[in-house]
Amino acid sequence: MKTVISASMLASDLTRIADEIKKTEKSGVDWLHIDVMDGVFVDNITYGNNVVAAMRPITRLFFDTHLMVHDPTRLIPLFAGAGSDMLTIHLESEGNTAANLAEIRRQGMKSGLAIKPATPWEECIPYLPLCDMVLVMTVDPGYGGQGFIPQCAEKVKALRSFCNENGFNLDIQVDGGIDNKTAPVAKTAGANVLVAGTYLFRSGDMNAAAELLRL
Ligand code: DX5
Ligand code: ZN
Repeated sequence: MKTVISASMLASDLTRIADEIKKTEKSGVDWLHIDVMDGVFVDNITYGNNVVAAMRPITRLFFDTHLMVHDPTRLIPLFAGAGSDMLTIHLESEGNTAANLAEIRRQGMKSGLAIKPATPWEECIPYLPLCDMVLVMTVDPGYGGQGFIPQCAEKVKALRSFCNENGFNLDIQVDGGIDNKTAPVAKTAGANVLVAGTYLFRSGDMNAAAELLRL
């Protein structure tokens, strides 16, 4: 499986977001990872659908939108309208997860299901037919710049085996603490979509850093 690199805008300079997006596009990164936090599901508040809509004309990059919100149901049409290409909701959020995943697809987006480090991967099983991607968080959601939790690679490995054995050909994303040291661990375990924020935006050379993640 080809590795997809998704750059987390959380680590970008928000005062110059258009330039940061252009720089990301030129670096050869595949997707933009947009972390939406509501201050309830996680401590922080980041940005919402208006910011996604403002970013949309700047780039043709795939918008990989990670909703860390208490109740995603009402937000699905808002992010579809803003131009998100994928919407990932948390299994731990409120609402009807199966109905939300189906609605995300019905609104023309790819559907993603995220699990926190403490959530067993098996809880995703009933939803796999409704998912284009599963996001196995490799840090506790809420903050950029945290360290990769090695035990999460075991969850990726078990999920990938289950998918292979049961005919689910979906993307497995990892998010949190991904750099040139942890990317090979995640890929060997079976992840094919790597989110990186701090590593890409704090490196002097984003092109070179993105290439190192692909190795
Ligand atoms: C954490 C976010 C991540 C975060 C990753 O809640 O979901 O996407 O931006 O940041 P790094 O790569 O710095 O760990
Ligand atoms: Zn994220």
